[in-house]
Amino acid sequence: MFIQLALLCLTWTISARPLFTDVPQLVLSKSAPRPLVIWHGLGDTALSEGISSFIEDIKTAHPGIFIYSVQIPLNGTLDEERKAGFYGKAEEQAKEGCDQINSVKELSDGFDGMGFSQGGLFLRSYAQYCDGPPLRNLITFGTPHYGISSLIPCPTPPSLTCLLAARAARAGIYTSWAQSHLVQAQYYRDPARLEEFLDTNSYLRDLNAEGYRLASEGEPGGIQDGGKGLRGIENLVAVLFDADRTVSPAQSAHFATYSPENKTLIIPLEQQRLYTEDWIGLRALDERGGFVREHCPGEHMDLGTGDCGMRMVEKYVGGQNGLASV
Ligand SMILES: *[C@@H]1O[C@H](CO)[C@@H](O)[C@H](O)[C@H]1NC(C)=O
Ligand SMILES: *[C@@H]1O[C@H](CO)[C@@H](O)[C@H](O)[C@H]1NC(C)=O
Repeated sequence: MFIQLALLCLTWTISARPLFTDVPQLVLSKSAPRPLVIWHGLGDTALSEGISSFIEDIKTAHPGIFIYSVQIPLNGTLDEERKAGFYGKAEEQAKEGCDQINSVKELSDGFDGMGFSQGGLFLRSYAQYCDGPPLRNLITFGTPHYGISSLIPCPTPPSLTCLLAARAARAGIYTSWAQSHLVQAQYYRDPARLEEFLDTNSYLRDLNAEGYRLASEGEPGGIQDGGKGLRGIENLVAVLFDADRTVSPAQSAHFATYSPENKTLIIPLEQQRLYTEDWIGLRALDERGGFVREHCPGEHMDLGTGDCGMRMVEKYVGGQNGLASV
């Protein structure tokens, strides 16, 4: 049974690093490791303390790696960046990230992507819709791939931005205003209100090709059909936080959702039509071994417990272009 503890002290930005005392020594290879793009999560900024120290750790593990952290809006103030996590049109923010990545010459031969929470959805947008250098390994941490069915609670103490966004969302999550101005609303998928979701949502619905496949309308391969889907990437590594009480359901990180009939029953990916009918190429990816379901032991975005963040970095980041590597 999944219990939402709203009063728990929650953080969903990544926490400043615990001490990594024994970063393993890696054998240096001749060519530089593949670059990495990071897309941060809700409430965080591109170069916050937590992200910056994580970047330093990645550079220690993979010497010479180039890392780009997506900043929305580009050159914005910290306050504008934090606000953009809550307010804005998801498709437009995704497009902005696509343009940024295209403008960075170090990324032009391809890169790996690491998305934190909702940042993982934006990197999926890149993979599915953006005309740019190839995204090879996509690693998502606690990303609600099949949506959230309740709002992500504000941290303690809450920011005013978070409280106002939550109040606006509660006033009507499936209004056209919320669906074009509140980021969380654009991946809010309430299984008990599926028709409203399919009628008013576009961002998550299209990313999962859900409206198109149910209605069988539109142009195959178009935006509503999830674009290229996951057919262009080499590996999707989806990390679920086992003690996640922030995203509901936490298993959305592995493309699971609650049953429309029973809100405590989780429908696993293998029983979703998204998978059985392979709407976005996820099943094909899985069948060739390119879909890896990983776990971290902690709460949402706790990368420190069990050294989980660095464990993923060592396994899935720093390969070389031209060599398929998990
Ligand atoms: C952002 O800042 C960089 C470096 O200061 C500058 O080169 C670039 O033109 C700026 N871009 C925008 C859109 O403001
Ligand atoms: C809902 O699912 C749970 C399992 O998660 C089960 O124990 C319970 O009996 C179900 N309730 C109904 C009404 O089917």
